[in-house]
Amino acid sequence: MSDPLTIAIPQVQVPSHPSWPPLTPAEQGELKARIKSLLEARDAVLVAHYYTDGDLQELAEETGGYVADSLEMARFGSESPASTLVVCGVRFMGETAKILNPEKRVLMPDLAATCSLDESCPADLFGAFRDQHPDHVAVVYANTSAAVKARSDWVVTSSIALPVVEYLHAQGRKILWAPDKHLGHYVERVTGAEMLLWPGACVVHEEFKGFALDRLRRLHPQAAVLVHPESPDEVVDQADVVGSTTQLIKAVLEMPNPEFIVATDEGIFWKMHQLAPDKKLIAAPTAGVGATCESCAHCPWMAMNALQNLEQALLRGAPEIYIDPAIRARARLPIQRMLDFARERGIGGRKSLPVAVAPG
Ligand code: 13P
Ligand code: SF4
Repeated sequence: MSDPLTIAIPQVQVPSHPSWPPLTPAEQGELKARIKSLLEARDAVLVAHYYTDGDLQELAEETGGYVADSLEMARFGSESPASTLVVCGVRFMGETAKILNPEKRVLMPDLAATCSLDESCPADLFGAFRDQHPDHVAVVYANTSAAVKARSDWVVTSSIALPVVEYLHAQGRKILWAPDKHLGHYVERVTGAEMLLWPGACVVHEEFKGFALDRLRRLHPQAAVLVHPESPDEVVDQADVVGSTTQLIKAVLEMPNPEFIVATDEGIFWKMHQLAPDKKLIAAPTAGVGATCESCAHCPWMAMNALQNLEQALLRGAPEIYIDPAIRARARLPIQRMLDFARERGIGGRKSLPVAVAPG
């Protein structure tokens, strides 16, 4: 099994979590009502990731938008008739929406919402890496810039990484994988493919601790352990289910266990609670013995999305995603290859999770 390469990747500056001024329930209701009117007036629809604040996820669903993982977010833009897509998530999600829907306006609450994986993989460094390995097929995770996607053969998300690499491995192809070394290592272990791994990591999932998880599991023998594959090996190895955000939500719905220990961003609890209110959800530990904070797993870039800056984005028509047309056209090819592969194999789709039924 290969070790991640020793490429000198940039040191990622992790921002602190933004703190939004608290809103009274009345203020929040008024703000939501104003955003609803703006969405209508601007012919805009919300597309939100499961890691964003529950208020944003709720608003997306109440207004005919969509809450999903990165694969389904990519698909939704083309399915919606709206001329403006407002992407609540991180920048690569907005860029993917623009690449697939160049005729639409794509807004985000804050373009500074990036991702440690994206930042660890600059296009010039990745391009040089790729040029050194012309005999490898370049498979990049969706959590990369448009410029990196433009230099790749395949884009994958965590929902589809295993079947794509299995398919390439069956053809005898060697894989150049970027940027998440943990996801890459997991895919390599499951498929047996020969893979060169970029040494990037998700700063959120890398914090989960194998030792503390083992202790927690002993305290909750009835709990199933659900792990996103951006986590380190010692955490993945204790999982009952390893999967994308949608696959983990599905596990909560379908498994008979009354309790679940969840190793991914805490934003996902909103959807899990909504679809399975009777199940007990426990955050996997991100801190070792004696720490005061048991689980601090929340992506600081996802946290840059809030009702307040969403309203501003709709009022100002900015910030908007722009991508150089040549990069956009080239980046579309590996993304489209992933979407075609998913369609042909029936992977994902809007019916992967039931739609929540409003209480009462
Ligand atoms: P999913 O594709 O599973 O939603 O993951 C996206 C992500 O950024 C996880 O950290
Ligand atoms: Fe990137 Fe990790 Fe945040 Fe996902 S949780 S967007 S991989 S930093």
